[in-house]
Amino acid sequence: MADAEFSHLPQDVRPIAALDAAARIAHIRVARWVQHAAADRVLGYLHEALAQPPRERMENLLLVGESGMGKKMLIRKFERQTIAAVDDAGGVQRRPVVVMLMPHQPTEAQFFGQLLGALHAPVAGHFIRGFPLQDPAVRLLHELGTRVVVIDELNSLLAGTPRQQRVFLQLLRFLSNELRLAFVGVGVPEARHALLSDSQLRSRFTDIELSPWSLSEDLRDFVARLTWSLPLRQPSPVDSPKLRRLLVERTGGITLGICKAFERAAIAATREGREKIDLSSFEDPEIWRGVATPSRTVRTQPRATMAQQPA
Ligand SMILES: Nc1ncnc2c1ncn2[C@@H]1O[C@H](COP(=O)(O)OP(=O)(O)OP(=O)(O)O)[C@@H](O)[C@H]1O
Ligand SMILES: [Mg+2]
Repeated sequence: MADAEFSHLPQDVRPIAALDAAARIAHIRVARWVQHAAADRVLGYLHEALAQPPRERMENLLLVGESGMGKKMLIRKFERQTIAAVDDAGGVQRRPVVVMLMPHQPTEAQFFGQLLGALHAPVAGHFIRGFPLQDPAVRLLHELGTRVVVIDELNSLLAGTPRQQRVFLQLLRFLSNELRLAFVGVGVPEARHALLSDSQLRSRFTDIELSPWSLSEDLRDFVARLTWSLPLRQPSPVDSPKLRRLLVERTGGITLGICKAFERAAIAATREGREKIDLSSFEDPEIWRGVATPSRTVRTQPRATMAQQPA
Protein backbone atom coordinates (compact mmCIF):
# COMPACT_ATOMS: atom_id res chain seq x y z
CA MET A 1 0.00 0.00 0.00
CA ALA A 2 1.37 3.43 -0.90
CA ASP A 3 2.45 5.68 1.98
CA ALA A 4 0.53 8.61 0.53
CA GLU A 5 -2.68 6.84 1.47
CA PHE A 6 -1.98 7.44 5.14
CA SER A 7 -1.40 11.15 4.89
CA HIS A 8 -3.38 11.69 8.13
CA LEU A 9 -0.48 10.01 9.99
CA PRO A 10 3.02 11.33 10.72
CA GLN A 11 5.71 10.08 8.30
CA ASP A 12 7.18 7.57 10.75
CA VAL A 13 3.84 5.90 11.50
CA ARG A 14 2.78 5.48 7.84
CA PRO A 15 4.84 2.36 7.09
CA ILE A 16 3.41 0.74 10.24
CA ALA A 17 -0.15 1.39 9.05
CA ALA A 18 0.66 -0.74 6.00
CA LEU A 19 1.43 -3.83 8.15
CA ASP A 20 -1.11 -6.58 8.84
CA ALA A 21 -3.56 -6.33 11.75
CA ALA A 22 -1.52 -8.51 14.13
CA ALA A 23 1.63 -6.45 13.63
CA ARG A 24 -0.28 -3.20 14.06
CA ILE A 25 -1.93 -4.42 17.26
CA ALA A 26 1.48 -5.41 18.59
CA HIS A 27 2.69 -1.89 17.78
CA ILE A 28 -0.26 -0.29 19.57
CA ARG A 29 0.54 -2.32 22.70
CA VAL A 30 4.16 -1.20 22.89
CA ALA A 31 4.84 1.72 25.24
CA ARG A 32 5.70 4.95 23.43
CA TRP A 33 6.27 8.51 24.47
CA VAL A 34 3.59 10.99 23.45
CA GLN A 35 4.70 14.58 23.80
CA HIS A 36 2.42 17.04 25.57
CA ALA A 37 2.50 20.59 26.87
CA ALA A 38 2.64 19.83 30.62
CA ALA A 39 5.43 17.30 30.05
CA ASP A 40 7.36 19.86 28.00
CA ARG A 41 7.07 22.40 30.82
CA VAL A 42 8.30 19.89 33.40
CA LEU A 43 11.14 18.79 31.10
CA GLY A 44 12.12 22.46 30.84
CA TYR A 45 12.41 22.72 34.65
CA LEU A 46 14.38 19.48 34.78
CA HIS A 47 16.85 20.74 32.18
CA GLU A 48 17.21 23.97 34.17
CA ALA A 49 18.04 21.94 37.27
CA LEU A 50 20.65 20.08 35.25
CA ALA A 51 22.18 23.28 33.89
CA GLN A 52 22.88 24.77 37.36
CA PRO A 53 26.53 25.35 38.09
CA PRO A 54 27.76 23.39 41.11
CA ARG A 55 27.33 25.49 44.23
CA GLU A 56 26.65 25.04 47.89
CA ARG A 57 22.96 25.70 47.72
CA MET A 58 21.58 23.75 44.78
CA GLU A 59 17.98 24.18 43.61
CA ASN A 60 16.22 20.85 43.96
CA LEU A 61 12.84 19.89 42.52
CA LEU A 62 9.90 17.96 43.86
CA LEU A 63 7.75 16.59 41.03
CA VAL A 64 4.35 15.43 42.21
CA GLY A 65 1.41 13.94 40.36
CA GLU A 66 -1.33 11.43 40.93
CA SER A 67 -0.60 7.79 40.24
CA GLY A 68 -0.66 7.13 36.49
CA MET A 69 -0.05 10.75 35.43
CA GLY A 70 3.16 9.74 33.66
CA LYS A 71 5.88 10.79 36.10
CA LYS A 72 8.04 7.75 35.49
CA MET A 73 7.70 8.05 31.70
CA LEU A 74 8.69 11.69 31.96
CA ILE A 75 11.83 11.16 34.02
CA ARG A 76 12.88 8.31 31.72
CA LYS A 77 12.43 10.70 28.80
CA PHE A 78 14.62 13.24 30.60
CA GLU A 79 17.25 10.58 31.21
CA ARG A 80 17.24 9.55 27.52
CA GLN A 81 17.53 13.15 26.35
CA THR A 82 20.57 13.79 28.54
CA ILE A 83 22.34 10.53 27.66
CA ALA A 84 21.94 11.19 23.94
CA ALA A 85 23.41 14.67 24.32
CA VAL A 86 26.75 13.57 25.76
CA ASP A 87 27.20 9.96 24.71
CA ASP A 88 30.15 10.42 22.38
CA ALA A 89 32.12 12.79 24.62
CA GLY A 90 34.89 10.18 24.39
CA GLY A 91 35.90 7.12 26.42
CA VAL A 92 34.08 7.04 29.73
CA GLN A 93 30.32 7.08 29.52
CA ARG A 94 28.89 10.13 31.25
CA ARG A 95 25.67 9.88 33.22
CA PRO A 96 24.59 13.47 33.95
CA VAL A 97 21.23 12.18 35.16
CA VAL A 98 20.72 9.10 37.30
CA VAL A 99 17.25 7.77 38.07
CA MET A 100 16.86 5.65 41.19
CA LEU A 101 13.97 4.27 43.17
CA MET A 102 13.43 5.24 46.80
CA PRO A 103 14.08 2.05 48.83
CA HIS A 104 11.23 0.71 50.93
CA GLN A 105 13.47 0.86 53.99
CA PRO A 106 14.84 4.41 54.18
CA THR A 107 18.22 3.42 55.61
CA GLU A 108 21.60 4.66 54.43
CA ALA A 109 22.66 1.16 53.31
CA GLN A 110 19.47 0.61 51.31
CA PHE A 111 19.71 4.06 49.74
CA PHE A 112 23.29 3.61 48.54
CA GLY A 113 22.46 0.07 47.47
CA GLN A 114 19.68 1.43 45.21
CA LEU A 115 21.89 4.25 43.98
CA LEU A 116 24.73 1.90 43.05
CA GLY A 117 22.20 -0.36 41.35
CA ALA A 118 20.97 2.61 39.30
CA LEU A 119 24.60 3.32 38.38
CA HIS A 120 24.90 -0.31 37.24
CA ALA A 121 27.56 -1.03 39.86
CA PRO A 122 27.79 -4.50 41.41
CA VAL A 123 26.67 -4.19 45.02
CA ALA A 124 25.51 -7.60 46.19
CA GLY A 125 28.92 -8.61 47.60
CA HIS A 126 29.31 -5.34 49.48
CA PHE A 127 25.91 -5.79 51.03
CA ILE A 128 26.66 -9.27 52.28
CA ARG A 129 29.94 -8.25 53.87
CA GLY A 130 28.40 -5.10 55.29
CA PHE A 131 30.81 -2.72 53.51
CA PRO A 132 29.95 0.94 53.73
CA LEU A 133 28.54 1.93 50.34
CA GLN A 134 28.74 5.70 50.56
CA ASP A 135 32.35 6.04 49.39
CA PRO A 136 32.05 3.91 46.24
CA ALA A 137 28.75 5.60 45.39
CA VAL A 138 30.19 9.10 45.77
CA ARG A 139 33.27 8.18 43.74
CA LEU A 140 31.16 6.71 40.96
CA LEU A 141 28.87 9.77 40.81
CA HIS A 142 32.02 11.86 40.37
CA GLU A 143 33.47 9.66 37.64
CA LEU A 144 30.20 9.59 35.72
CA GLY A 145 29.81 13.36 35.91
CA THR A 146 26.39 13.04 37.54
CA ARG A 147 24.67 16.40 38.09
CA VAL A 148 21.12 15.31 38.91
CA VAL A 149 19.91 12.36 40.97
CA VAL A 150 16.22 11.61 40.47
CA ILE A 151 14.59 9.70 43.32
CA ASP A 152 11.35 8.14 42.10
CA GLU A 153 8.61 7.18 44.57
CA LEU A 154 9.98 9.48 47.24
CA ASN A 155 6.67 8.93 49.05
CA SER A 156 8.05 5.51 50.14
CA LEU A 157 10.04 7.50 52.68
CA LEU A 158 6.81 7.92 54.63
CA ALA A 159 6.83 4.19 55.35
CA GLY A 160 9.88 4.67 57.55
CA THR A 161 9.75 5.52 61.25
CA PRO A 162 9.92 9.26 62.09
CA ARG A 163 13.52 8.75 63.20
CA GLN A 164 14.48 6.94 60.00
CA GLN A 165 12.87 9.73 58.01
CA ARG A 166 14.78 12.45 59.84
CA VAL A 167 18.10 10.64 59.48
CA PHE A 168 17.43 10.06 55.79
CA LEU A 169 16.65 13.74 55.12
CA GLN A 170 19.84 14.72 56.91
CA LEU A 171 21.73 12.39 54.61
CA LEU A 172 20.08 13.97 51.58
CA ARG A 173 20.98 17.45 52.80
CA PHE A 174 24.56 16.36 53.43
CA LEU A 175 24.86 14.81 49.96
CA SER A 176 23.36 17.84 48.29
CA ASN A 177 25.88 20.13 50.00
CA GLU A 178 28.82 17.79 49.68
CA LEU A 179 28.38 16.62 46.10
CA ARG A 180 26.88 19.84 44.81
CA LEU A 181 24.40 18.01 42.69
CA ALA A 182 20.67 18.54 42.40
CA PHE A 183 18.05 16.12 43.64
CA VAL A 184 14.71 15.64 41.95
CA GLY A 185 12.18 13.93 44.21
CA VAL A 186 9.26 12.32 42.38
CA GLY A 187 6.06 10.95 43.86
CA VAL A 188 2.34 11.12 44.47
CA PRO A 189 1.11 14.33 46.15
CA GLU A 190 1.67 12.74 49.59
CA ALA A 191 5.40 12.93 48.81
CA ARG A 192 5.19 16.58 49.87
CA HIS A 193 4.85 15.38 53.46
CA ALA A 194 8.03 13.37 53.12
CA LEU A 195 10.21 16.50 53.21
CA LEU A 196 8.31 18.48 55.82
CA SER A 197 10.23 17.36 58.88
CA ASP A 198 13.42 19.02 57.60
CA SER A 199 12.54 22.65 56.95
CA GLN A 200 16.07 23.54 55.88
CA LEU A 201 15.95 20.88 53.19
CA ARG A 202 12.34 21.67 52.29
CA SER A 203 13.23 25.25 51.44
CA ARG A 204 15.70 23.96 48.86
CA PHE A 205 13.01 22.11 46.93
CA THR A 206 10.73 23.82 44.43
CA ASP A 207 7.44 22.06 43.74
CA ILE A 208 6.35 21.22 40.24
CA GLU A 209 3.19 19.34 39.43
CA LEU A 210 1.86 17.12 36.71
CA SER A 211 -1.83 17.94 37.24
CA PRO A 212 -4.72 15.78 36.04
CA TRP A 213 -6.05 16.73 32.63
CA SER A 214 -8.82 19.31 32.52
CA LEU A 215 -10.93 20.45 29.56
CA SER A 216 -8.21 22.52 27.99
CA GLU A 217 -6.37 23.16 24.76
CA ASP A 218 -3.54 21.04 26.18
CA LEU A 219 -5.86 18.03 26.36
CA ARG A 220 -7.07 18.68 22.83
CA ASP A 221 -3.49 18.67 21.63
CA PHE A 222 -2.60 15.55 23.61
CA VAL A 223 -5.56 13.63 22.18
CA ALA A 224 -4.46 14.60 18.67
CA ARG A 225 -0.88 13.45 19.27
CA LEU A 226 -2.00 10.25 20.95
CA THR A 227 -4.20 9.45 17.95
CA TRP A 228 -1.33 10.16 15.53
CA SER A 229 0.76 7.57 17.32
CA LEU A 230 -1.79 4.84 16.49
CA PRO A 231 -1.44 3.18 13.04
CA LEU A 232 -5.11 3.36 12.00
CA ARG A 233 -5.74 3.56 8.27
CA GLN A 234 -8.53 6.14 8.42
CA PRO A 235 -8.45 9.58 10.04
CA SER A 236 -10.11 9.57 13.49
CA PRO A 237 -12.57 12.38 14.28
CA VAL A 238 -11.51 12.80 17.90
CA ASP A 239 -11.34 16.58 18.05
CA SER A 240 -14.61 17.06 19.93
CA PRO A 241 -15.42 18.77 23.26
CA LYS A 242 -17.92 16.00 24.01
CA LEU A 243 -15.24 13.35 23.61
CA ARG A 244 -12.82 15.28 25.80
CA ARG A 245 -15.47 15.71 28.49
CA LEU A 246 -16.11 11.96 28.46
CA LEU A 247 -12.39 11.24 28.80
CA VAL A 248 -11.99 13.58 31.77
CA GLU A 249 -15.10 12.25 33.50
CA ARG A 250 -14.23 8.60 33.06
CA THR A 251 -10.54 8.86 33.98
CA GLY A 252 -10.47 11.75 36.43
CA GLY A 253 -7.97 13.27 34.01
CA ILE A 254 -5.37 10.56 34.63
CA THR A 255 -3.05 9.97 31.66
CA LEU A 256 -2.91 6.21 32.20
CA GLY A 257 -6.71 5.86 31.80
CA ILE A 258 -6.77 8.04 28.69
CA CYS A 259 -3.92 6.09 27.06
CA LYS A 260 -5.48 2.75 27.94
CA ALA A 261 -8.87 3.75 26.49
CA PHE A 262 -7.26 4.92 23.23
CA GLU A 263 -5.17 1.78 22.92
CA ARG A 264 -8.19 -0.46 23.41
CA ALA A 265 -10.28 1.60 21.00
CA ALA A 266 -7.50 1.40 18.40
CA ILE A 267 -7.13 -2.36 18.82
CA ALA A 268 -10.90 -2.86 18.45
CA ALA A 269 -10.96 -0.60 15.38
CA THR A 270 -8.11 -2.59 13.83
CA ARG A 271 -9.69 -5.98 14.57
CA GLU A 272 -13.12 -4.98 13.33
CA GLY A 273 -11.80 -3.23 10.24
CA ARG A 274 -13.31 0.15 11.19
CA GLU A 275 -9.82 1.67 11.12
CA LYS A 276 -10.70 4.79 13.07
CA ILE A 277 -11.64 6.00 16.55
CA ASP A 278 -14.59 8.28 17.21
CA LEU A 279 -16.93 9.15 20.08
CA SER A 280 -18.86 5.87 19.64
CA SER A 281 -15.64 3.89 20.25
CA PHE A 282 -15.76 4.99 23.88
CA GLU A 283 -19.35 3.85 24.41
CA ASP A 284 -18.20 0.22 24.58
CA PRO A 285 -17.88 -0.60 28.33
CA GLU A 286 -14.99 -2.95 27.49
CA ILE A 287 -12.87 0.14 26.72
CA TRP A 288 -13.11 1.21 30.36
CA ARG A 289 -12.41 -2.16 31.97
CA GLY A 290 -10.05 -1.66 34.90
CA VAL A 291 -9.82 2.11 34.41
CA ALA A 292 -10.26 3.50 37.89
CA THR A 293 -13.18 5.84 38.28
CA PRO A 294 -11.99 9.11 39.75
CA SER A 295 -11.70 9.14 43.52
CA ARG A 296 -10.46 12.70 43.88
CA THR A 297 -12.34 15.68 42.54
CA VAL A 298 -12.11 16.19 38.81
CA ARG A 299 -10.85 19.66 38.03
CA THR A 300 -12.33 21.36 35.02
CA GLN A 301 -10.05 24.37 35.30
CA PRO A 302 -6.33 24.04 34.72
CA ARG A 303 -4.24 24.50 37.81
CA ALA A 304 -0.99 26.38 38.09
CA THR A 305 1.82 23.94 37.38
CA MET A 306 4.55 25.52 39.43
CA ALA A 307 4.43 26.94 42.89
CA GLN A 308 7.37 28.24 44.84
CA GLN A 309 7.50 26.69 48.27
CA PRO A 310 7.16 29.31 50.98
CA ALA A 311 10.44 29.59 52.86
N1 LIG B 1 3.67 11.07 27.80
C1 LIG B 1 3.10 9.85 27.73
N2 LIG B 1 3.05 9.20 26.54
C2 LIG B 1 2.47 8.00 26.44
N3 LIG B 1 1.93 7.33 27.47
C3 LIG B 1 1.94 7.92 28.67
C4 LIG B 1 2.53 9.20 28.87
N4 LIG B 1 2.41 9.53 30.17
C5 LIG B 1 1.77 8.50 30.75
N5 LIG B 1 1.49 7.52 29.88
C6 LIG B 1 0.78 6.27 30.16
O1 LIG B 1 0.47 6.25 31.54
C7 LIG B 1 1.04 5.10 32.17
C8 LIG B 1 1.49 5.44 33.57
O2 LIG B 1 2.63 6.26 33.52
P1 LIG B 1 3.76 6.24 34.68
O3 LIG B 1 4.08 4.86 35.12
O4 LIG B 1 4.86 7.09 34.18
O5 LIG B 1 2.94 6.97 35.85
P2 LIG B 1 3.41 7.47 37.28
O6 LIG B 1 2.98 8.89 37.38
O7 LIG B 1 4.85 7.16 37.50
O8 LIG B 1 2.48 6.60 38.25
P3 LIG B 1 2.76 6.02 39.73
O9 LIG B 1 2.68 7.18 40.67
O10 LIG B 1 1.63 5.05 39.94
O11 LIG B 1 4.10 5.37 39.74
C9 LIG B 1 2.15 4.67 31.23
O12 LIG B 1 2.40 3.30 31.34
C10 LIG B 1 1.59 5.04 29.87
O13 LIG B 1 0.68 4.05 29.42
MG1 LIG C 1 5.83 6.01 38.89
